[in-house]
Amino acid sequence: MKFKFLKITTLSAAIMIGGFAQTATSHTGAMGIIKERMDNMVIMGKALGAVADMLKGKRDFDAGVVSQTGDVLIQHSKTMGSLFPDTEESRLGKYSAALPVVWEKNDEFLALAKSLEEKAEILKTVASGGDLKMIKVAFGQTAKTCSACHADFRKKKD
Ligand code: HEC
Repeated sequence: MKFKFLKITTLSAAIMIGGFAQTATSHTGAMGIIKERMDNMVIMGKALGAVADMLKGKRDFDAGVVSQTGDVLIQHSKTMGSLFPDTEESRLGKYSAALPVVWEKNDEFLALAKSLEEKAEILKTVASGGDLKMIKVAFGQTAKTCSACHADFRKKKD
């Protein structure tokens, strides 16, 4: 029962990651800091997507790739705050999907970035243990943190 739930969570997380990758090409006109943060988000999406593919059996399991994904996410969650400065360009830049609430509730936004860093640390730690079940749980928690932030701080797609 517990395992079943875990499987569903992991799968829906994997589907969400698929959705992230799709948005990757739709913002070719973005510039400056908007482009920079979008690019970083896309890099995270791809890194997490590689793990999703492993969990879906689309690609061979490789603990090294899971660990690298952890590193990529740790690195980008650390710099995330600095890519959403409270400037006119950052708030009103063309093609940005960031909502004003990013700056209105900046503490919450930064806390979610920090939480992503922590989840990515766990993912990296369990990767070296090679226990697939633990990796699935850590993956699910990580992907949930991406979605939690997007749910509140990013514009919904039409
Ligand atoms: C703390 C909040 C937060 C976290 C955590 C977060 N994101 Fe984002 N993400 C955003 C915001 C805000 C945007 C919109 C940025 C913009 O358009 O200016 C975004 C945009 C994106 C985009 C679209 C980029 C584009 O080209 O338009 C992708 C892909 C993405 N995030 C993937 C991820 C993944 C994968 C994770 C987790 C590993 C993640 N994000 C974690 C806030 C977050």
